[in-house]
Amino acid sequence: MKEKLNQIEQDFSNALASSKNIGDLNALKSDFVGKKGALATILKGLKEASIEERKEIGAAANRLKEQFTVQIEQQARQIELAEMNSRLEREKIDLSLRDSVQEKGLRNGSYHPVSIVQREIEDIFTSMGFEVLDGPHIEDEFHNFEALNIPDTHPARDMQDTFWFKDMAHLLRTHTSAIQVRGMNTHTPPFKFVAPGKVFRCEATDASHEMVFHQLEGMMIDKDISVANLIYFMKTLLSQIFGKEVEVRLRPGFFPFVEPGFELDINCLICGGKGCSVCKQQGWVELLPCGMVHPNVLTAGGIDPSEFNGFAFGLGLDRLVMMRYGIDDIRHLHSGDLRFIKQFATY
Ligand code: DAH
Repeated sequence: MKEKLNQIEQDFSNALASSKNIGDLNALKSDFVGKKGALATILKGLKEASIEERKEIGAAANRLKEQFTVQIEQQARQIELAEMNSRLEREKIDLSLRDSVQEKGLRNGSYHPVSIVQREIEDIFTSMGFEVLDGPHIEDEFHNFEALNIPDTHPARDMQDTFWFKDMAHLLRTHTSAIQVRGMNTHTPPFKFVAPGKVFRCEATDASHEMVFHQLEGMMIDKDISVANLIYFMKTLLSQIFGKEVEVRLRPGFFPFVEPGFELDINCLICGGKGCSVCKQQGWVELLPCGMVHPNVLTAGGIDPSEFNGFAFGLGLDRLVMMRYGIDDIRHLHSGDLRFIKQFATY
């Protein structure tokens, strides 16, 4: 009997070593520890054996049963793991489309330089808690002029040559300031948002003028906002865009919707303020009109100017893009010329 058990143990360990999958292990289980397996046969045969033998062999057979069961389970876990790994290897998905696209010379597109800069600026402002708003290209007189303190007869309307629709009530927005009014009407102070987009003016084009260009409007309304807040946000924005501390200065500037209104200049980054062709020997580059929101504008936006105030600014995006990439003619931006556009591929 004892030899038989030894033989069974030997046979089991050989069979286990050659079991390659779960099916083999199931067969092994039924052959050795199953109801009709080798160990069960031994236990049945004990009926005729002496009491001592029954005790000894019975205990040994049960120990083997436990041992075999544990060994089968361990091997099953290993097989499952190996199968899972090989499946993961087989079903691996290659997500590196980028590289294959590039290798095959099939680069299909990328962001336009204006979009690249616009997205960057949106990120900077959202990180400072600003919302990003959108507005319609086709505006009415109220949002584009009236509500911004530019009444019908105001000469400021002439500063912005307007594409009017035949009804003379609608127009292609001449500036993103129109979104200030929409923002005020849909928000309760305190709030702060930026609003980027295309604007349209009926102008003769040259290297620095286009009929379609881009602005990014900004507005912050709260209690006790001061010019210091305005300068802080503008300095933070510009240092992030240019990747270094920039010096700014404010000059008075007239815009009907702000009072006081400013032109914000930055110290020329090309010559460091000494004077060069970019800054026209001034040492400063005009970059950003801004100011404290006029009480009439707040009122038109449904905000009580005795309780709240704030600042607004209108960033010319195209100018920034041109400075960033050294583009010398704004007309390239809408030329649709692939030789131009392909230089800005982002991957
Ligand atoms: N909307 C003005 C323009 O297109 C730019 C501007 C000036 C916007 C001052 C502002 C501002 O928000 O405060 O010429």
